[in-house]
Amino acid sequence: MSNSPTQIELIQPDDWHLHIRDGAVMKDVLADTARQFARAIIMPNLKPPVTTVGLAKAYKARIQANLNALGISAFTPLMILYLTDTTSVDEVRKAKDAGIAGFKLYPAGATTNSDAGVSDLKHCHAVLEEMQSVGMPLLVHGEVTSPEIDIFDREAVFIDSVLEPLRQHFPELKVVFEHLTTKQAAHYVRDAIIGGKNTIAATITPQHLLMNRNAIFSGGIRPHNYCLPVLKREEHRVALLEAATSGNPRFFLGTDSAPHAKGAKETACGCAGCYSAFNALGLYAEAFESQGKFDKLEGFASFFGPDFYSLPRNTQKITLVKQAQNIPAELPLGDATIVPLRAGETIAWSLVEN
Ligand code: NCD
Ligand code: ZN
Repeated sequence: MSNSPTQIELIQPDDWHLHIRDGAVMKDVLADTARQFARAIIMPNLKPPVTTVGLAKAYKARIQANLNALGISAFTPLMILYLTDTTSVDEVRKAKDAGIAGFKLYPAGATTNSDAGVSDLKHCHAVLEEMQSVGMPLLVHGEVTSPEIDIFDREAVFIDSVLEPLRQHFPELKVVFEHLTTKQAAHYVRDAIIGGKNTIAATITPQHLLMNRNAIFSGGIRPHNYCLPVLKREEHRVALLEAATSGNPRFFLGTDSAPHAKGAKETACGCAGCYSAFNALGLYAEAFESQGKFDKLEGFASFFGPDFYSLPRNTQKITLVKQAQNIPAELPLGDATIVPLRAGETIAWSLVEN
């Protein structure tokens, strides 16, 4: 493939990190994702969180009902359980039998709806042992939560204080380091020494490939560019771009599209999360184009995720064209509205809709 094409065909991608919430707003956000992706990892940080197989089945049924209402038959949600201090070994076994795709570690207090998260991983040893033995992936929000650690350092500190000890203790545990934001994290995943098995991977969002922390403060405070882990310096963005476009199968697509109504973002204490689902593939295409690395997009977007999760690759194809798409200032979100990433601007690449 030429590296300056105006049209790209690729096997349909999946989104390996997505928030679709619940209730009336789900339908609106699900439609955006299902237009582009065949499958998505559905994050479990609802209120209350999805901590058991029973809750995940009920959530999946609500997702299916919304898909039916939208007339979408070709989209598969992959369910994740929220790890807590009291998750049982039995729940891991049940999850394996039920086809749950992984457990998500939220350090308590790290991000939106993470109060019920893990206070200390020592409470989870037996559960992690079981996950390791049945091949259940652990998805990690990689930030420490201590208020004395600078917010821009929380990911790098997490690597040394939590992730590396965890991987030493459970060397065969499959770990997905979610939404990387730093050079340290990109290099850690790239250089991690693993045994015979593929035990570490990472997702990267479009906003962390396209923006640095100046975007939160350009000409005034920009709440729609605020997410967690927070955007970092340019040198980190460059390292993430390098990782994503390197062709290394440890890095794959996960938007972390995290919808919050406009009013919950544009307020004195605004929520963390960027809504990238509207044209996520266009955003990734722009990032890969900036590196002249279109030939690496399909692996990142469509192959390495399913390979890591031991799921079949998709077979159907999609086409992206270099045709500017206007991003609306606001989109409907239940009774409210949401401001998508790049609202009011144009994105060069768009999906050809069938
Ligand atoms: C996510 C959310 O709103 O659920 N927010 C975010 O900024 N990414 C939670 C998360 O993934 O950290
Ligand atoms: Zn997330």
